[in-house]
Amino acid sequence: MKKIVYMDAAASWLKNQSVIETEGDFLTNSYANAGRGVCERASNVDKMIDNVRHQVADFIGAGSSNIVFTSGATDGLNRVVGIIQNTLGLENKKLIVAVSDLDHHSARMPWEYLAGQGKCELVVCPLDENLNIDIDNIPICDIFVITAMSNVLGVPQNVEKIIRIARKKNPNVITIVDAAQFVVYENIDVSQMDCDFLCFSGHKIGADTGVGVMFIKNPDNFNPDKFGGGMVNRIIDSENWILNKSPEKFEAGTLPLTQIVGLGQAIRQLHDNHAYLHLIGYMYDELSKIPGIEILTQRDACILSFVVKGMHVLDFGTMIGVRDVCVRVGNMCASWIHKKLGQDGSIRISVGPWNTMADAEYVIKTIRNMVK
Ligand SMILES: Cc1ncc(COP(=O)(O)O)c(C=O)c1O
Repeated sequence: MKKIVYMDAAASWLKNQSVIETEGDFLTNSYANAGRGVCERASNVDKMIDNVRHQVADFIGAGSSNIVFTSGATDGLNRVVGIIQNTLGLENKKLIVAVSDLDHHSARMPWEYLAGQGKCELVVCPLDENLNIDIDNIPICDIFVITAMSNVLGVPQNVEKIIRIARKKNPNVITIVDAAQFVVYENIDVSQMDCDFLCFSGHKIGADTGVGVMFIKNPDNFNPDKFGGGMVNRIIDSENWILNKSPEKFEAGTLPLTQIVGLGQAIRQLHDNHAYLHLIGYMYDELSKIPGIEILTQRDACILSFVVKGMHVLDFGTMIGVRDVCVRVGNMCASWIHKKLGQDGSIRISVGPWNTMADAEYVIKTIRNMVK
């Protein structure tokens, strides 16, 4: 297989062989549906899914009934909107929803859409001079969408403090944390954070695509957004249903079982050692010396984003791509921060434990040759 330098970890993490083998083994030897059958094989799958749920719960400091499997961060962030809508009935309330320019399209667009329909009012929480959420100017709001780490800037936000301040201003505020990037680099303890909802994708932490996690702090206080098999205990008549408790209440339909089993293995082999991030510092220093390159991120950020004067980011992406380097170019589904930076898009380098100093030197040499 052709060797490429993959520096697009923030788009999707490369898969550890053990995750691939775990999924293969499950499909070959253990596969059955979950929450449906009573035979030994089906019961074993129930146990496997339950084990991963407990593992995810431990991973973010939650209880297992607070962990709902989704198909990814986008799915979770959209589902939170549906859950809130089905519970509060947004139509007549005109709730104030705070968003910020750090947001990914997946976190903010569902609310922008509802605001466009007149079902809520959006306020944009300001950023400070370092482009972090401005903790001195947190707006009073009913719902607060907090991007814990921008996928363009790569700086962890002090989510705990932000939520504490938001709750001082409105004790009933519903806080929604987009942890899609944050989860890769920072330990999460939802009880410390005190968030109401938190979402992330499996594929960014080494699991497969098609699986994600939605944490709900108070599942009994919310109505489901999806209806179907597995979430209802009994239908008495057309108006009276007895719903299952969380998490089943929020998991209508067959779950992505194989991917959930893979997620368990991905979490098992995740580690806190982010030593590979020193490559970002090295590349930051080297890129800073190349005339025409404007770096948009800080040296100690988890991500390195930049633009090249006079070169469209898509041209850059194509040119470096044919030189066997994978990086992300474009608006990164984060239009608002690019607008704030005065850019249409950028080039993003993000690394993982598979990257070496030789990779970083090759990328720098390649860029130097491309922009001279
Ligand atoms: C900050 C952030 N939020 C949400 C998402 C959406 O994740 P997914 O595409 O896995 O649903 C991403 C993906 O890049 C992201 O970086």
